Amino acid sequence: MNKRFTTGIAAGALILSLTACGGSRGGGDAAGEGGSNEGAKIGVAMPTQQSERWIADGENVKSQLEELGYEVDLQYANDDIPTQVSQIENMINGGVKALVVASIDGTTLTSVLDTAESQDIPVIAYDRLINGSETVDYYTTFDNFEVGVQQATSLLIGLGVLDEEGNETGEEGPFNVELFAGSPDDNNATFFWDGAMETLQPYLDSGVLNVPSGQTEFEQAAILRWLPDTAQDRMEDLLTVGGGARIDGVLSPYDGLSIGIISALTSGGYSPDDLPVVTGQDAEVGSVKSMIAGEQYSTIFKDVRELGGQAVTMVDALMKGEEPEVNDTETYDNGEKIVPSYLLESEIVTVDNYEEVLVDSGYYTADELK
Ligand code: BGC
Repeated sequence: MNKRFTTGIAAGALILSLTACGGSRGGGDAAGEGGSNEGAKIGVAMPTQQSERWIADGENVKSQLEELGYEVDLQYANDDIPTQVSQIENMINGGVKALVVASIDGTTLTSVLDTAESQDIPVIAYDRLINGSETVDYYTTFDNFEVGVQQATSLLIGLGVLDEEGNETGEEGPFNVELFAGSPDDNNATFFWDGAMETLQPYLDSGVLNVPSGQTEFEQAAILRWLPDTAQDRMEDLLTVGGGARIDGVLSPYDGLSIGIISALTSGGYSPDDLPVVTGQDAEVGSVKSMIAGEQYSTIFKDVRELGGQAVTMVDALMKGEEPEVNDTETYDNGEKIVPSYLLESEIVTVDNYEEVLVDSGYYTADELK
């Protein structure tokens, strides 16, 4: 839809090189005092290896940092908060000069980040905002609100309410849809939900869309820790709660949840070739295969090579005593400060464009998707 493109243009036009308010730490001091940060050790904390995207994120950041000559301590925390806290503590004790952190729960790192601050170690929040802490210097992510808009837009396209260009077709339904949200402790989840609901609300209001369960609040739709099994259980419940009405579409904010949702639908009597329109996010291999097989309808592709590259560019600038480039200084308020951010763009993928977007770009080989 048009908004998608306007956001892109706005982001492009707004590339700002900012002097971070209050002074950024790390690079300035360490590099400026004659101490070189060449070959410095960088800590990279990732949430989980249960999802392919985070494995790819970790590998991308590590390899790109290594190409620039940095040493990397990459750790995964198995979605366990105390593990992530102690991994970051160990990184600090192990002498890292900067931290790149994709948090599990964005509110749990305040104390360990205070330690980082006391040692002048700059912190970059990676993909997920770290909340409630002054000591987050920069943030790089995708335009998360826009991801939600894209998810809802693809749901509407799949239902036939919008055409491929995002224009209304005049189709009035009514269509039965159920709604899922991500983990309530992940700051991104609310952005995805808000973007999606802003897009769906007019159709809910006009009766083109109907939610048989009546569960339209974030708290009702949220899936703690983004767990596929929890989504599967909730979808099973929704099939009963909704009084057995046929479901035409499901807003799912992440491919892992979509897989659980599709399992619940098939075991609940939907045949694989007559499934509701189910959305997703991350273009994980299992879901792309599911789209090719005609099951999942769409996903949102976020090129984590670009995200990794952006984080590495930020680290490198800080290590050289320079100010990283950002393109958003308004959106990401973490409760203590507005964190200067660099936002990237995402893209809707369906069976119609997956080859061009995912294979031709070298993100996956054709063989990986067989
Ligand atoms: C990421 C999504 C991902 C989700 C579950 C979010 O923070 O932005 O890309 O689907 O976590 O891992």
